[in-house]
Amino acid sequence: MLNKQLLDQEFGFMKDVIFLDAAHVALPPMRTQAVYSNYMTEYVKIFAEDVTQNAWAMADEARRDVATLLGCESTEVAFIKNTAEGVGIFTAGYPFTPGQNVIIDDLEHPSNLNNWVRQKSRGLELKVIPSRDGSIFIEEYEKLIDENTVGITVSAVQYSSGFYTDLDRLGRLCKERNILLMVDGIQAVGRLDIDVKRQNIAALAFGGHKHSWGTMGCGALYVRRDVLQKLEPPYVSYQSVTDFIAPPAVTTDFTRLNWKADSRRLEAGLLNFAGVAALRAGVSLINELGVKNISEHVLQLDRQLRAALKGIELKVVTPRDESNYSGIVCIYYPKDHEDKVVEILRRRRIYATMRGGYIRVSMHAYNTPEHMDAAAEALWEISKLS
Ligand SMILES: Cc1ncc(COP(=O)(O)O)c(C=O)c1O
Repeated sequence: MLNKQLLDQEFGFMKDVIFLDAAHVALPPMRTQAVYSNYMTEYVKIFAEDVTQNAWAMADEARRDVATLLGCESTEVAFIKNTAEGVGIFTAGYPFTPGQNVIIDDLEHPSNLNNWVRQKSRGLELKVIPSRDGSIFIEEYEKLIDENTVGITVSAVQYSSGFYTDLDRLGRLCKERNILLMVDGIQAVGRLDIDVKRQNIAALAFGGHKHSWGTMGCGALYVRRDVLQKLEPPYVSYQSVTDFIAPPAVTTDFTRLNWKADSRRLEAGLLNFAGVAALRAGVSLINELGVKNISEHVLQLDRQLRAALKGIELKVVTPRDESNYSGIVCIYYPKDHEDKVVEILRRRRIYATMRGGYIRVSMHAYNTPEHMDAAAEALWEISKLS
């Protein structure tokens, strides 16, 4: 059960607004807003004394919170600026050899997709699974895996259809075939029950500005310990290696880099610590509420909305199986009536993503059954536009 009192305390500022748009950018909880807004003021107050030591200590606590959320070790978590950077660090750093292949689908967001396309110049082949009506079918992966397949990359939840790939099942397949599962987690982390160990995920990146209730410019990258050892990151500084040249620094060995064994090897230079603090605040709230509780709640809201839309004359993107629901529902509206659609949503104080001819409704812990009723009423009104 979700702690309603805690939700009211953290999200009371939404009042009569029906916010269904964290799939775009979250309205973060009070604790995230406070820590992010105050970050600089706090260290100016103390004349920046110990600011970097304190910041690294805070980042280590944030690592633990993210690790708790993802079900991994904190030594497997690095902070990154966004999903694209996380996938980029992984793809650039992994020792692919020419002729190897990775399986991808045709729905991926550019932050994932383009980093894989880029590896083609290193001789990596991409095998593509065609989606059908916003869905991806796991049987298709089985057909494409061969002896040169290194792994599969997929978004946990597709940004344009809301389709959730059953990561438990895909993870089992990857385990059986001894290949890697690499996940763009941004539309799932914080809302759905992602557990990287149970789901046999080798790497997962997410930006913090959506369902994990952090902010833009800071996210996290998980890389499983054994895979981490194989990565040669594209950037390096003193945080990434074991030998620290203490001042007055005179370098004598210009030949080697001794990479740290843990995820710190993926971080170079100082981090966006205000962003890390924001992500930590958001993730700590998710951990307090319990991501399994949140997941059950959003999936229940998802089913409620779909049931209320039964028979509507709008195209509702619907996976064949309920196990692929995600708490994100995409509904196409009549193309020529965009202005009226915006008016209907605004009048009812509903915030959702509108792009490419569809409305994307995304649910989180603070949403209620009444919000779903209101969204359904608005959609029925939209369906009558002519
Ligand atoms: C599935 C998916 N991946 C990646 C992104 C963008 O991620 P970032 O800006 O963190 O690179 C989005 C944002 O909409 C998304 O929906």
